Amino acid sequence: MAMPGGGLVVLITGATGPVGRAAAARFAADGARLALVGRDPGRLDAVVRELGLPEDRVLPVPADLRDGEAARAVAATVDARFGRIDVLLHLVGGWTGGTAVVDLDPDEVRRMLDQHLWTTLHVVQAVVPGMVARGSGRVLAVSSPFAASPGPRGASYAIAKAGEEILLRSLARETAGTGVTANLLVVRAVDAAHERESAPSPRNAGWTTPEEVAEVLSFMASPAAAAVNGQRIGLDGR
Ligand SMILES: NC(=O)c1ccc[n+]([C@@H]2O[C@H](COP(=O)([O-])OP(=O)(O)OC[C@H]3O[C@@H](n4cnc5c(N)ncnc54)[C@H](OP(=O)(O)O)[C@@H]3O)[C@@H](O)[C@H]2O)c1
Repeated sequence: MAMPGGGLVVLITGATGPVGRAAAARFAADGARLALVGRDPGRLDAVVRELGLPEDRVLPVPADLRDGEAARAVAATVDARFGRIDVLLHLVGGWTGGTAVVDLDPDEVRRMLDQHLWTTLHVVQAVVPGMVARGSGRVLAVSSPFAASPGPRGASYAIAKAGEEILLRSLARETAGTGVTANLLVVRAVDAAHERESAPSPRNAGWTTPEEVAEVLSFMASPAAAAVNGQRIGLDGR
């Protein structure tokens, strides 16, 4: 049976985080060729070793995606090596919070916008025109319920994730009919340590493991999900 990600070229940003690593393992098992982005070359090399793929199926590309030029260089490097990008999994993460709005340092908001909104804009602008030109592509990112329903003392992260969401849902409207889709998975908390299984409690009941996120990313990259565009898909409904 053909596997969902077989033959695809998949660019994974934030590839050294828990979700990025699980996605890399899942798409590798699906038969995809992978380009992996993070800032730290050593952590990227560790993920490459962990995957154990032949050299012609994996390409580590260290880059800081807060820089638009760096994002364009990533896309050019992947195109030169693999000829195209079929799937963009934008999984750059980072959280800052704990401060009430009245005490918020504007620089904290700027840091979160840099991390979530601007990395997304840069990588989308670098990758999506090629997808549209080829008439096919998938853009997937992971957001938080706080983007739509913020809690207390988390405004800078929620603002940045809301910005990322609006950007990708706007993109989805613009690419409708081109063969390129953009969607968001929504996760309350990534259960990287599998606490939901090892120490179940009401606190972690709605958490989602990196492997569960990777499963849905794999489905969303498959032909079966071609009609899904511009959606926020919750994975916290357990
Ligand atoms: N963790 C959660 O509970 C949770 C909840 C809801 C949504 N999400 C979202 O899910 C996605 C994956 O989360 P995660 O927990 O696996 O991520 P994470 O642990 O925060 O990992 C962050 C990843 O992004 C890379 N990165 C950070 N800044 C970067 C930059 N400027 N340029 C390039 N790469 C950069 C990091 O590598 P370097 O540091 O080497 O650059 C690392 O690979 C993220 O979008 C996150 O916002 C997470």
